[in-house]
Amino acid sequence: MSEVNEAPVWRLPAHIRASKPYQPGKPIEALAREIGVAAEAIVKLASNENPLGMSEAARLALAQAANALARYPDNDCHALVGALSRKLDVPPDWLVTGNGSECILGLAATAFLEPGRHAVYAQYSFQAFVNAVQRTGAGHRVVPARGFGCDLDAMLAAIDDDTGLVYLANPGNPTGSFVPGPQLEHFIARVPAHVPIVLDEAYFEYLPDEDRYDSLAWVRRHPNLIVTRTFSKAYGLAGLRVGYGVAQPELAALFNRIRPAFVVTEQAERAAVAALDDEAFLARSRAENARGLAQLYAGCDRLGLAYLRSRANFVLVQVGDAAAVNARLLRQGVIVRPVGVYGLPQWLRISAGTAAQNARCLEALGQALKG
Ligand SMILES: Cc1ncc(COP(=O)(O)O)c(C=O)c1O
Repeated sequence: MSEVNEAPVWRLPAHIRASKPYQPGKPIEALAREIGVAAEAIVKLASNENPLGMSEAARLALAQAANALARYPDNDCHALVGALSRKLDVPPDWLVTGNGSECILGLAATAFLEPGRHAVYAQYSFQAFVNAVQRTGAGHRVVPARGFGCDLDAMLAAIDDDTGLVYLANPGNPTGSFVPGPQLEHFIARVPAHVPIVLDEAYFEYLPDEDRYDSLAWVRRHPNLIVTRTFSKAYGLAGLRVGYGVAQPELAALFNRIRPAFVVTEQAERAAVAALDDEAFLARSRAENARGLAQLYAGCDRLGLAYLRSRANFVLVQVGDAAAVNARLLRQGVIVRPVGVYGLPQWLRISAGTAAQNARCLEALGQALKG
């Protein structure tokens, strides 16, 4: 994608001129064209998608919604808000739905940031935080990571009167790092009440039982907290773009006021409602992910590669010259994610796939490391 930074006729604000495009995982079709193979021959483990696809119930709901395209969707997402409200045991006016949870991360920046203020977030935070802040012209206070994870005391120390927002993803992407519930709760309680906190739980459903915590109880206690989650990962609906936020009604109403209209399509809404009820699919997704992570760890051990143990659905692996290794993987039809943009030029992020996909990726990685 080309950047518009140099357009001579537009008087772009400096922060827009400086903005960078989001760098997604390489599409399967693009690589298939480049190396001249069928799309089916490509293994893509680059975007933390669900290797099981979507639940059958969601697929059915999607098919049934095919005739609804002539009409605008329900702007209030009544069915999905109702289903989430019952599932999460929060009132409907505590919910915000969006075009992926990234939409809600962006709304937080729109609501609370402007030039002269800043957002606080940890080093190696999700790229969408950086981009959302950049679009507002606000400053970035990036708090150095501790052992690839969040240094919560340093984050607290970075907050001052000009802090408009705190972003924290748990587990984090691209590191997969995790802050245990009690520490996170302690942190949230110490953030000044006038500073909103966005707790991004995109990978929440993958957390092993022993790591689970009740962040919605924290939402009930803290009017400055919004928890965001998504249907893109464990629910397998990344292509439909549905996410949601949970906050007390004043904050939720603010987000709902400023979000674009009709931001969740009818198809996406119906599929999400169906997916929410399919507990069996979710359980299978979690089990498959745990198996996939174990397989990737074992493969990295065999290859003598360092990696970070992850609570999400991907592993960050230290491969040396990651750009070169990535290029050799691409030539073998394997797409993973280089993370140089995060300041990690030696690492590749590999999403957990099916057993066959992981095996193919590890085999290709072994070859790629030979040079
Ligand atoms: C930490 C984190 N938050 C949010 C998202 C956004 O997901 P979506 O917009 O698909 O809901 C992602 C996607 O990769 C992520 O890694």
